[in-house]
Amino acid sequence: MFTEEMLPEMRCPKCSTESLELLATENNGTNIITGTLLCARCDSEFPILGGVPDLVPWSALPDEWQLWSDHLAGFEARRKWRNRHPDKFATKITHHSGSLQKAFAGFTKIEKGAVLDIGCGPGNFRNCFADRPVDYWGVDPLPLPESEHFRFARAVAEYLPFREHMFTDVVVLAAMDHFQNVEAFCEETVRVLVPGGRLHIVQSVHDVHGPVTAVKAAAHWVKDRMETEATTTLNKTAPKHMTEFDGNSLRHAMDLHFEITEESKYSKRWYSPNNMYVTMVPRSR
Ligand SMILES: C[S@@+](CC[C@H](N)C(=O)[O-])C[C@H]1O[C@@H](n2cnc3c(N)ncnc32)[C@H](O)[C@@H]1O
Ligand SMILES: [Zn+2]
Repeated sequence: MFTEEMLPEMRCPKCSTESLELLATENNGTNIITGTLLCARCDSEFPILGGVPDLVPWSALPDEWQLWSDHLAGFEARRKWRNRHPDKFATKITHHSGSLQKAFAGFTKIEKGAVLDIGCGPGNFRNCFADRPVDYWGVDPLPLPESEHFRFARAVAEYLPFREHMFTDVVVLAAMDHFQNVEAFCEETVRVLVPGGRLHIVQSVHDVHGPVTAVKAAAHWVKDRMETEATTTLNKTAPKHMTEFDGNSLRHAMDLHFEITEESKYSKRWYSPNNMYVTMVPRSR
């Protein structure tokens, strides 16, 4: 959903400091359904369609974002294919489970505050905080119908459409490997976090541990192959992920901007890859 109350908190994703002006709207009481958001500084216009503001600066994305656009199209096609074929083995084996979200919510120790979920998908993570005074906001370049139930904008991690020092916590669930530019995501996250705010990430990593190492490695490989197969069948040029992380490369990717304060690993099923959980705080400058 997108309401007028959200507007003072939002900024032009290109200029990052400029407030947005709301033009020509149609609303249904509280929610804005159609309209335009205008940045007076850079003259950019962002449409609001079907209750969703599109704050991805599409025309300003540098050329190297072409691969990401292909990737996103492949991801969307795969998601639709799964929705149409819930009973297929490939859907079941690659399903992203809700219990992982609960475990991750416990890890973050978020009790209250304003939380931004980057790459939120259907925003299911908000349900983990239903009994707590948490203001949940989500952004994702692919809007889903579920987004009408929470504060949502179509946006990318690299160009966040929010004012500085707005969120106590930023969370990223299984979305880091979809970002085009991890460096820009780090800079934007530091900008929108309050002083003392935290970033929490859960990311599947290509590390194999434990007594069933070889079997698990093989199962992980099969699962990966099935996802790759599904993606490339639907969209030939699309990489499944923009980056494949292992524990070390995940730690390194953000090392310049963040310092890790908590870290843990979790695997739901014997054949699942490990999920790495990290909580980080911005490095003091
Ligand atoms: C595997 S899904 C995870 C969705 C959700 N976090 C969850 O756990 O159910 C990855 C999400 O990242 C989003 N995404 C892709 N590129 C992104 C970007 N540059 N910035 C933010 N999100 C992005 C995709 O649209 C997708 O919804
Ligand atoms: Zn602007």
